[in-house]
Formats: sequence, C-alpha cells, structure tokens
Amino acid sequence: MRRIKLIDLIFKLTVIFFLSELFTMFVFSTWLNIVPGPKQYILDAVTMLLLSTPFIYILIIRREREINKLDELDRQLQYIINKVMDVSLQHTSQEELFNRILTVVIKTSFMPLEPHAALFLLENNRLVMKAQIGLTDGHKALCAEIPLGKCLCGLTAQNGRTVFEAAVGSLHEIKSAGMPPHGHYCVPIKSGAAVLGVLTLYVREKSEYNEFEASYLETVCSILAKIVEFKKLEQNARQLQKMESLGRFASAIAHDFNNILAGIKGFNALAIEDAPADARLKGHLALIESGVNKGTELTTQLLTFSRKQPQGMSELDLGGTISSMQKILEIMMQKKVKIRVEIDKDLFKITGNKSQIEQLIMNLAVNARDAMPDGGEFRITAANITNSADTKSCLKVLRHCSKAVRLTFEDTGPGLSKEVLNNNFEPFFTTKPEGKGTGLGLSTVYTIATAHNGCIDILNEPGKGACFQICIPVSECKPAVQSVEPPSLTLKP
Ligand SMILES: Nc1ncnc2c1ncn2[C@@H]1O[C@H](COP(=O)(O)OP(=O)(O)O)[C@@H](O)[C@H]1O
Ligand SMILES: [Mg+2]
Repeated sequence: MRRIKLIDLIFKLTVIFFLSELFTMFVFSTWLNIVPGPKQYILDAVTMLLLSTPFIYILIIRREREINKLDELDRQLQYIINKVMDVSLQHTSQEELFNRILTVVIKTSFMPLEPHAALFLLENNRLVMKAQIGLTDGHKALCAEIPLGKCLCGLTAQNGRTVFEAAVGSLHEIKSAGMPPHGHYCVPIKSGAAVLGVLTLYVREKSEYNEFEASYLETVCSILAKIVEFKKLEQNARQLQKMESLGRFASAIAHDFNNILAGIKGFNALAIEDAPADARLKGHLALIESGVNKGTELTTQLLTFSRKQPQGMSELDLGGTISSMQKILEIMMQKKVKIRVEIDKDLFKITGNKSQIEQLIMNLAVNARDAMPDGGEFRITAANITNSADTKSCLKVLRHCSKAVRLTFEDTGPGLSKEVLNNNFEPFFTTKPEGKGTGLGLSTVYTIATAHNGCIDILNEPGKGACFQICIPVSECKPAVQSVEPPSLTLKP
C-alpha cells in the first residue's frame, strides 16, 4: 500500500515539475518576446526536469525513509501485540501471566523505556501491586497498596484515563530514597467504563508524550483486562463447582448423622427419665443431651448450606421476624453487646422461609458477639429500597427488581480481616479455635440470601466494624436467574 503511494508520489512530482517548467518557459518567452517552437518548449522543459531530478530524488528518499520507519514500527507493534496475545493464552496463574506480559512489554524497542514496570489491580478502592519488574524492595513496599487518587497510578485509576509525566513531578507523590530520574506512562486497565487496575511503565526522563505509544499501551491494557475478567470467571466457576460438590457431600453426611443423633437423643431422654434420682448420673446425661443438641444444630446448618432442607416459602414480614428475635438475641449476646434495631415503617413484604431468615440473622449475630468479646454494639436495620441511587450495595437485586428490602448488620468489632475477605464466604473457613468455629456461618448466610433471590455485600472499611448488607427482592418480583457472581466486597459509601 505504502509502495503504491510512493510511485504515485514520484509520478505526481514529475508531472508537477514538468508542467511548472513549461509554464515558466511560456512566461519568460512571452516576457522576452521570443517565440520558440513547440520542440524548443519540450526540450527546455525536459532539460529543466533533468536538472531538478536530484531534488525530486532527495524528496523521494526522505519519504521512503519515513515509510520504512513506519513499516518497521508496524512490524514491531505487531510482533509485541502477538507476543502479548500468545502469553495471555498460556495456562498459568494470573500473577505469572502479568509477570510474563510485563517482561514482553518492557522490551518494546520503539519506546524510551526504563527497565522498571508494575501492574496493579483495584481491590476495595485500593490499587494492589500484583506484578512488577526492576523495583527495589523499598519501592515495592511503598507501592504495595496505593489508595485511589494517590500518586500517578491512583489518579489514573480514579479518572480512568492515561496519565503521562515526563519527570518526577508534584503528582508523583510516592518517592523513595535514591530513586533515579524518570517519567511515567500510567495506563488504566479497563473493562468498559469500569477500572480494573493500572499498568505503569517507567520512561526516560524528559521523554515526550506520544499518542502512538499511548494507544499501543492501551491495547496491551485491553488484553490485560480480558485476562482479569477471564480469571475471575474461572474462579467463580470453580467456586460454584466446589460449593456444589461440598453441598452434596455435606447433605449426605448430615442426613445420616441426623438420624444417628435422633436415636441418641431419644434414648438419652428415656435414660434421663429412668435414671434414679442420682444427681451425678442425671448431670452426665444432661451433658450428653447438650452435646447432641449442638450436633443437631450443626447438621441443620449443614443441611441449610447444602440447600437440601425443605424450603417452604411464603409471604414474610422481615420486620416482624427481626422484632420477634430481639429478646433471644439479647440473651445470646450475654448483656455485653447492645442490640439496636431500626425497621422502616411499612416494610415491603418478601417471599421467604422464616426459619432460614432466623438462621441467617442468628449466624450474623453470633459472629458479631464473637468479634466483640469485650462488648460493643450490634445494629440491625431493615429498609425499603426502590432506587439504585439510594444504595451502593444491592445493585445485583435492583437490576431485576425495582423494590427490595435491605437488611444491614453492623457491629463495632475489629471488622473483617483481609484473610476473611480473601476467603469470600468459603465454607469451613474459620479463624476461631477448634471446637468454637465451624466456618459454616457465612457460607450458610450466603446460601440463604441467594436462595431468596437476594444478594449479600460486605461493606468493609479498615479500622471499622463488620458490615453486611443483604438485599431481598419483594414478593411481586419473579425469581431471577441464579447469578453465578460471588458476593461482592465494596467500601462503605
Ligand atoms: N462480625 C465479624 N467480625 C469480624 N470477623 C468476622 C465477623 N463475622 C465473621 N468473621 C470472621 O469470619 C470467619 C468465618 O465466619 P463463619 O463462617 O461464621 O464461621 P465461624 O464463625 O464458625 O468461624 C470467622 O472465623 C471470623 O474470623
Ligand atoms: Mg460464625
């Protein structure tokens, strides 16, 4: 294509020179009153054309060099993008893919790059470093987590636009000792309008912003965004599969176990009746009874988790359910934790299973109590939600139903640790000592919320207590197609 353009240029230049020579000849001959024949005209024009050949030649050579340079750039660009694509299809962990892509990108020969780069993903409104090349340990520690809006990368994530700085300037807020002079391209990794992370590359100081380079990096970031999305889907599918098989396993065990416990309970009750008024034996039997009751509680939990328990759904007044539990919650909190309940007037009715909702509330309350051994406050709020503008959570429910009830459970404990957040409702994950925690509370809450076509969001803010928001659509809404999205973690508004 470019070759055709070059031939076209030579032809045009020749015609322009030839015609301009003819025109000059005509003007001069008219001015000098000479009347040359047509042969003379053509001869002179050809002579002049030959004389101007070196100029045409120089122009053409220059143009050809430009074209060759562009061709070379195209070739390099194609080569790198192909390599990045190749890497993105490899079967390995997300972090390893990021590292391999950084290694390829950092060798981009048409950019004035320094041998340092980093890649961040947005998690809970903070950029978390997932891969890097050439950063010192000090710099790695300084940039391990960057709040939204801070430094060049934070700004890129906040605005969703590429940021370029030719040198370490005022925007470059995070500086480490002995940092060599450099500039930056910080490019957002975006999926549609949503920012998923940031790629930052170091460029030589005083380099200039170049649109071609920026658009090349944006292409790389689109590939990175696809990797992030694909890995998330893969993880969700794996999680779903795991929950499914765990559910089947749990329900099989729980059924048999329940029958065994029912037998023990029955015979224990008979033994208590038959036992002589010997206080010691009665005491032992009472301990057996309490152990059996705990076992039954656990199997009920397992059955709910595996969704194999009968799920009779009827119109339910969530406000009434919460109010009726207030007394029992107060007893369970052992007076150490103050309970506050706020329920919207005329709360919408939902379709639900009362005992499951009670179990959901009880699980969250037990967790709040355990998180505040020295006391605190546990707040339950039930509110009508009709508009996504009113809430940062519940969006998944509001997508298919314009009316929902939002239950908020907040405590004044230490909040959910990073470890808990990373485990994201994983069954059997517990930080409690053996015998105290089963790790089934939160996964049961998640199962119950989704069984009610609802969703659960964790609003976690460092240094604050835990806050869970559960949204359940109103009775009029038809059940939504079960979402494969796992619960989302967001920051408090
Ligand atoms: N309100 C809370 N505050 C702090 N941490 C919590 C809270 N709720 C749950 N957690 C953490 O989540 C973990 C899992 O909870 P859960 O699934 O209910 O299992 P368990 O309570 O049996 O440990 C707990 O071990 C605890 O570390
Ligand atoms: Mg629990």
